[in-house]
Amino acid sequence: MASDEIKQNSGDMKALEALAVQCTGSDSGIEDFLAELGNTLGPGARQLVMRLIEERTAFRIKRAGLNEAIVGAEEGLREVMAAVRQVARADAPVLILGETGTGKEVVARAVHTHSRRANGAFLRVNCGAIPPELIDSELFGHERGSFTGAVGTRKGWFERADGGTLFLDEIGELPLAAQVRLLRVLQDGSFQRVGGERSLNVDVRLVAATNRDLRQAVRDGGFREDLWFRVAVFPIPLPPLRERLQDIPALAAHFSLRAADRLGLPPRMPDAVDLALLAAYPWPGNVRELASVIERAAILGDGRRLEVARALGVSPPLAALVSPQLANPTSTSLEDSIRQHIEAALSHCHGRVEGPFGAAKLLDLNPHTLRSKMRKLGVAGKRFRGGD
Ligand SMILES: Nc1ncnc2c1ncn2[C@@H]1O[C@H](COP(=O)(O)OP(=O)(O)OP(=O)(O)O)[C@@H](O)[C@H]1O
Ligand SMILES: [Mg+2]
Repeated sequence: MASDEIKQNSGDMKALEALAVQCTGSDSGIEDFLAELGNTLGPGARQLVMRLIEERTAFRIKRAGLNEAIVGAEEGLREVMAAVRQVARADAPVLILGETGTGKEVVARAVHTHSRRANGAFLRVNCGAIPPELIDSELFGHERGSFTGAVGTRKGWFERADGGTLFLDEIGELPLAAQVRLLRVLQDGSFQRVGGERSLNVDVRLVAATNRDLRQAVRDGGFREDLWFRVAVFPIPLPPLRERLQDIPALAAHFSLRAADRLGLPPRMPDAVDLALLAAYPWPGNVRELASVIERAAILGDGRRLEVARALGVSPPLAALVSPQLANPTSTSLEDSIRQHIEAALSHCHGRVEGPFGAAKLLDLNPHTLRSKMRKLGVAGKRFRGGD
């Protein structure tokens, strides 16, 4: 009986009680508690509890809305979201800056949904994808016959976004001629269609984004300084993923769930070694790259687990070099770090110490040395047995 087992081990019970108190009132605390309970009850229960946690996480993320959810809004993007809320109501132009894949479009949408224009249109124009000769007509529209091929009157993006938000993505790619016209709209809110005489007025909120150094572009003469002052009224810089490692576990869980949904597989969560690997990778492609690594890991794991190391192209012995404490910046003492490192390896090897798939091999240690370290640090190998 499970309860007898608990009674037999009063040390574990004390630890559980302490954990229960600690977890009360925190949203993710219940997962920690369940995990500890699973460990105390033995391998079968542990497996069951792990499944339960995965389902719960899946449910939580689903409830939050898979596509609209901004993961890390309370953590690595806390300051960004505070800025978004502040500026959204002000109706001022916003310039979102950040490396590729940091979530500039996600944040641009958030500016819109937090603003009084939330019920209006949100239109995105990729300035880098329109041929230069068509930019004027795309942005401001054209009258019939104004140029060869203009068979009908066409409304431009500014007109279509009336009452809403126009997101000018990759604004740094806008040719100088289009920059002049854009400046005019921003200055007096009016423009003419190409080939048109009439001045049109629209009520559009401008959000722009770029991964280029626009200041440098201004210095080089590729971006007008007067336009820069107009669009950069309220810049929001997005930190690269490598500077917000604390968001990686939640982002990985989010993308794992999205991948599972798409692939029709059960969702699997990253374990401690996976998270350490993810934390150690430099992420030049930021969140977008993480999403694709997790999707690859889900495909490779085929619903049984997330094959993060393989998806990253890391071999298991290399994986051992990555210290799990990277995934947990709150740990301080060296002993704690070593304990976590060993526990992560044991968890990865389902509690096996010896043999080709054992934790000793992974950690490049003699099994006797590992056992004596485990004794010294109070790590029980049996806790990790019974994975899938
Ligand atoms: N905080 C986040 N929470 C959830 N998903 C995110 C988050 N940040 C980015 N993503 C996802 O990552 C991908 C890339 O984000 P996005 O397109 O906004 O990046 P970007 O900065 O505009 O990139 P680029 O400069 O290449 O255009 C998208 O699929 C987006 O949904
Ligand atoms: Mg983008």
